Amino acid sequence: MKEILLIFSIFLVTPSHALFSKWLKNTDLNNPSNWDRGNLPCGNDRMILPDDGPIVFMQLNTTIQELVLPRDVELVFGSYATLGFTNDPDHSAACLDSGTDITFNASHPADWIDPNNWCPTDTEKGPCKTLPQLDSERIPCITDDVIFPTGSSYYVNLGSKLNIEINTLKVSGQAFSTPSFQNFLASEKGGDIFPVPATGSRSSVNILRRRCNDPTGCGCGNDQGQILSAICQVQSVRCNRPRCKYPITPVGHCCGICGGMLNITYGTGFNLANLKNGIQRNFLYGKEAYSNVQYIVSKRSDNKIQMVLQDNDGKISSGVAMTIYNELKSDIANGGYKYGITDVRVQTAAGGGSTFDGKTSAHTGTRSMAGGSVAGITIGVLLGVIIIICIGYYIYINRNSQTSDDGTGFTAQVFNQFNRFNVSQKRKPQVSVPPSIGYTWGSHDSGVSSVSGQTSQGFENPIYGSVALQDMKPIELEPTDFAMMTDTQPVNQGFDNPLYDTDHQESLFGDPTVVENPELPTVMTLGPSNQDTDA
Ligand SMILES: *[C@@H]1O[C@H](CO)[C@@H](O)[C@H](O)[C@H]1NC(C)=O
Ligand SMILES: *[C@@H]1O[C@H](CO)[C@@H](O)[C@H](O)[C@H]1NC(C)=O
Ligand SMILES: *[C@@H]1O[C@H](CO)[C@@H](O)[C@H](O)[C@H]1NC(C)=O
Repeated sequence: MKEILLIFSIFLVTPSHALFSKWLKNTDLNNPSNWDRGNLPCGNDRMILPDDGPIVFMQLNTTIQELVLPRDVELVFGSYATLGFTNDPDHSAACLDSGTDITFNASHPADWIDPNNWCPTDTEKGPCKTLPQLDSERIPCITDDVIFPTGSSYYVNLGSKLNIEINTLKVSGQAFSTPSFQNFLASEKGGDIFPVPATGSRSSVNILRRRCNDPTGCGCGNDQGQILSAICQVQSVRCNRPRCKYPITPVGHCCGICGGMLNITYGTGFNLANLKNGIQRNFLYGKEAYSNVQYIVSKRSDNKIQMVLQDNDGKISSGVAMTIYNELKSDIANGGYKYGITDVRVQTAAGGGSTFDGKTSAHTGTRSMAGGSVAGITIGVLLGVIIIICIGYYIYINRNSQTSDDGTGFTAQVFNQFNRFNVSQKRKPQVSVPPSIGYTWGSHDSGVSSVSGQTSQGFENPIYGSVALQDMKPIELEPTDFAMMTDTQPVNQGFDNPLYDTDHQESLFGDPTVVENPELPTVMTLGPSNQDTDA
């Protein structure tokens, strides 16, 4: 049954670059890489939060000796997380550096434009997946759903003068539209998370909320202009020295690579998924010799399809590129019925940098099989054809089951699309109740005084009441997508919004408590508790 669904998906899922793009950095207290010592504060330490730092979120119980907390720094407590103070030395293995200062060093905002700060995932809460990508595709694309996961605090530099375009944006469970995100940026909390950069006003962020419906594919959009230069300014210094004589630099990539690259011009009836998956099935899947070859197919901003094949020294991948080139060229010579393309050019690193020109005489009228037949054939015949293909493909899939589910991401992505259809129809957007501000300075019997968040009160959510839901426009979908993929339940809501993939909307830090004490001195040092209780 899975295979059958897969086949339907192949026909129906519009090819796009759509993925979740997850932000990897945070300013959590319980993240060792946010501390200058590279481990967590413990019972022997004086914990120092620097001036002008970000909001720091504490999710786990922490015990220290002293806290240095500047007035303008905000420490947010997760639910049931307690900050305890002790005088007793801690001899546990996690606390070997005894009696030292430990300073929070994630005190500068991390760059949106830095590819290393993002990873692709299949679902909103899913793990990062390894996926060969161009540098321009590693930061959120126009088709991507951007996620700042719940349960963390963030400090993000949007840069200036850039026009950031994404599909959707969700920060700590809160979905934004373009105007509601602008309001958020203007708020105090928004300014704390996305500070105005020193270089000028923030880049604009456009949240398009538009699903890719173009069978010829949707480009990432980051492969040109200022945004590409900004990415490459960060990325170029990290380039490894290519291990081939004539490296090539694909459009949208910052470093020279070893391998081959095809520029493909498409004609009528072209379908990006057919090309991408067809080539992958016929030339790459299950071929042991090609297991190190990375295969990246993208639609560029200049409307060409770019196919990149890459490996360490470029020898094998250049060969594969030439094989694919010959396949595409012969299809064009035969009328382009297989792939719906009209021109292909190749360039390889191994071939001494030579460029093969695959231009053939004009084939502008080329149609793919699907495009040509749908018009003339009745639904009944079409269904018959689909069923036959299904059966054939089912057999094919069964024979190749080990190789086609091998983590290339293709199958997972298709099923993810399918799941998202179901999710979107079952779950309705919910509006959260505004949490109130509250905190307690508790005291335990053990004589350890603490700042605790056990009241489970939230902190003031600055984005509550934003107009996100009213602003939402239905996203257009081809009716066939639903008719064929959800045969059990009729769908009346044409809406595939991955943002509704959560059970409830949460406040910005889950269920935190914030300590905001106007009485606090500029530097607050809390001594060991027994002095307080004895006094
Ligand atoms: C903080 O310091 C640690 C240890 O030196 C380092 O690994 C980490 O990358 C630093 N973090 C930042 C955000 O600079
Ligand atoms: C912190 O400690 C308290 C009391 O010992 C406990 O009830 C609570 O569950 C702990 N919280 C976390 C996040 O572990
Ligand atoms: C492919 O397109 C890019 C961008 O237009 C161009 O720089 C490159 O030379 C082209 N390669 C070939 C072989 O035509």
